[in-house]
Amino acid sequence: MNLHKPIHGDALTTSGDHFWIALDLMGEAIDEAVMDKGEGVLEDLSGCSRRGDHRRWRRWSLATVVYENNARRKGGRLPATAEQRDTRKPLPSPNTSSETPPSLSATDAAKRGNPDTEESEADGGAAAMDYHNKLVLAPMVRVGTLPFRLLAAGYGADITYGEEIIDHKMVKCERRLNEFLGTTDFVEKGTSNVVFRTCHEERNRVVFQMGTSDAVRALTAAQIVCKDVAAIDINMGCPKSFSISGGMGAALLSKPELIHDILTTLRRNLDTTVTCKVRLLTSSQATVELARRIEKTGVSAVAVHGRRVKDRPRDPAKWNEIADVVASLSIPVIANGDVFEYEDFGRMKNATGASSIMVARGALWNASIFSAKGKLPWDDIKREYVRKSILWDNDIKSTKQTLKEMIMHHSCLELAEGKAVIKSETNEDLAKLYDEEDYYHFVTLSRP
Ligand SMILES: Cc1cc2nc3c(=O)[nH]c(=O)nc-3n(C[C@H](O)[C@H](O)[C@H](O)COP(=O)(O)O)c2cc1C
Repeated sequence: MNLHKPIHGDALTTSGDHFWIALDLMGEAIDEAVMDKGEGVLEDLSGCSRRGDHRRWRRWSLATVVYENNARRKGGRLPATAEQRDTRKPLPSPNTSSETPPSLSATDAAKRGNPDTEESEADGGAAAMDYHNKLVLAPMVRVGTLPFRLLAAGYGADITYGEEIIDHKMVKCERRLNEFLGTTDFVEKGTSNVVFRTCHEERNRVVFQMGTSDAVRALTAAQIVCKDVAAIDINMGCPKSFSISGGMGAALLSKPELIHDILTTLRRNLDTTVTCKVRLLTSSQATVELARRIEKTGVSAVAVHGRRVKDRPRDPAKWNEIADVVASLSIPVIANGDVFEYEDFGRMKNATGASSIMVARGALWNASIFSAKGKLPWDDIKREYVRKSILWDNDIKSTKQTLKEMIMHHSCLELAEGKAVIKSETNEDLAKLYDEEDYYHFVTLSRP
């Protein structure tokens, strides 16, 4: 990122990795009034503490200040503060779906989508995401790439999360328009390695989920992709040692100040919806306290996976503890854990009071879980997934992993199909295996 050194008279001073800046009540910076942590009034990490009648102090991360500073140099007003932004009227939902979960009222159903907004937002305007009464595809590593997200959306998912991508990886990427596929690709510079692929069709529902342990790096990564996605989500729930040892995922749950830093930095510098996904802490009270702190950062919604960090996937999700979080927050909560049938969306909504419901394994095993008409045979879903993977030239490792997960659940990897998937090296191999050769040739020959 292009960081500008603060210049004399910019009302900035350093304090560790951060700057302190004084604001008047309108959110304007006061040039001459600068002080640092050492002077004692700036310990309030929640954002500001009062000093006199007309001033408040705010702790900004480096990236935030650079942004603010540039705005002032150009003679403009500072961007809206978190509090000011919250008063903005949310735009109507960009999401459309023909189906409505059984438990939703007619008014709820009306809130679910507004096709009128779709065109203008897709044309580049930033839209606030609507998290009410949505069916959400959860983030899943190696699974949640473009074909699977489109598959889920085709069956009725309103919001589709991508797989978690680590900020370190994203900052090495450049945005490329892929004319052959009609996609926007984020490719590791100097390589052909596509780290994230998206397309116009999902612009208003795709969530880019990121793993991070640093506010400035998270912002740098988010700035690369934010214009092409509907929201940026920070993963605060991953219990894997890779994440924890890097201070990411569930490691963040014990660092509320870092959470605050990351989320406020993203909120103040991006004109994109920002959310996070957490797990339960060791007690319901602790989870609620953390969720309240998260709410104060101004995020648009929080997804709560109803398991603790040490819980295994087979342990039942604690819907009652998600309900405690819902009861304590005013922002939408997306409840996650143990939805395996379409009817579970309604059951979980009733049990938790959550605004929206998110599903991972239930969708991985049969993406038509989002359809009110009932699930289709998994063989059909699998074939449709293979076709979409061919169409969007999905990374073979991702396609194979997703197929393996499906097969492991419904059948067995030791049987002929599983072995053949493991042996496949290209999408063409998979096309042969699933009798989709004609489709493969049709698609690849019709590419420009
Ligand atoms: C294959 C797989 C990959 C996952 N990858 C991610 C991920 O990238 N980010 C994340 O926040 N959670 C991830 N999760 C957790 C899910 O998003 C979800 O929180 C969890 O599976 C509970 O939901 P479920 O009971 O509907 O499966 C993953 C889960 C699975 C099964």
